[in-house]
Amino acid sequence: MNQLDKLNDFLNFDLFPPSVSTFAEKVDPLFYFLTILSVIATLGVFMALGILGVKFRRNPDKPRESHSLHAPMLEFIWTFIPFVIFIAVFVWGAKLFAEYVRAPEGALQIDVIAKQWMWKVQHKEGVREVNDLHVPVNQPIRLTMTSQDVLHDYYLPAMRVKQDVIPGRFTYLWFEATKTGTYPIFCAEYCGTEHSLMTGHVTVLTPEGYAEWLAGGPKKSPVEAGEFLFTQRGCVTCQSGMKDARGPKLDGVFGSTGKMVGGEEVVKDDNYLVESILYSSKRVVDGYTPLMPAFANQLTVDDVNNLIAYIKSLGGAETAGTAAATAAPATEQ
Ligand code: CUA
Repeated sequence: MNQLDKLNDFLNFDLFPPSVSTFAEKVDPLFYFLTILSVIATLGVFMALGILGVKFRRNPDKPRESHSLHAPMLEFIWTFIPFVIFIAVFVWGAKLFAEYVRAPEGALQIDVIAKQWMWKVQHKEGVREVNDLHVPVNQPIRLTMTSQDVLHDYYLPAMRVKQDVIPGRFTYLWFEATKTGTYPIFCAEYCGTEHSLMTGHVTVLTPEGYAEWLAGGPKKSPVEAGEFLFTQRGCVTCQSGMKDARGPKLDGVFGSTGKMVGGEEVVKDDNYLVESILYSSKRVVDGYTPLMPAFANQLTVDDVNNLIAYIKSLGGAETAGTAAATAAPATEQ
């Protein structure tokens, strides 16, 4: 148990977050130094105020005429000592800042994408997570971060690091955890209604634990991944069944039969969905104009499969063809 834990324990609540990174160990002494310095300066000012107030109070019995306007030595001392202290604090802080902004070579790269109101994390090996961050202990981690919408701020109090996450730009943050465990993540920049709920956990694992986690880590199911893409790619704006939407609603579409522009009747099976996503203007549902962009060069095969899994999850026939005949009439009018 270090001094910090002892203090938290004594107070019976956490006055300070746990200190679990190499940077925390270096920045905490500076923080304590500044706090103690401020306390001493404040006490000094109030003590001087009291003592001098009493000593030089109005008193007709005491001679008050002879006072000098300048005391050069005293003035020099009260200027020089703070000057030395402030320069020392500046140098100390600047050194730490230089370290803060420069990740060591060979740091483990992890991508973080912020959006209202979640933190999406992608590991090099392809494992993704939301609002959680898993990292190995005793290994420098470098986060490359960007935002999909507004300003956010990735804050890991236990690591003593914090960095704005900005749309249209990459920002970076690095730290090296020194203790395994689970610690909070916060968004430290007001970003909308659910800003205060934009939290998560950083889990520091042993190197073996991290490798294990990567191998069996929670991967998104195809439906979840598809739903995510559906929102991320903007499909949701035209195809979620809103009034006057520019595209048909997709609930119950899979396996149904529908009329196309030109009069052709089409069974909406997997192949039709793939075609509609990749080359949307080939066959357009009757009553709509071909406004949707073609996604042929923008989506991977995985993306398309996930999108289709999501569309299937919205209802419709189990398997196209056989069930198409019994499927409910197309709902896209
Ligand atoms: Cu994101 Cu506040």
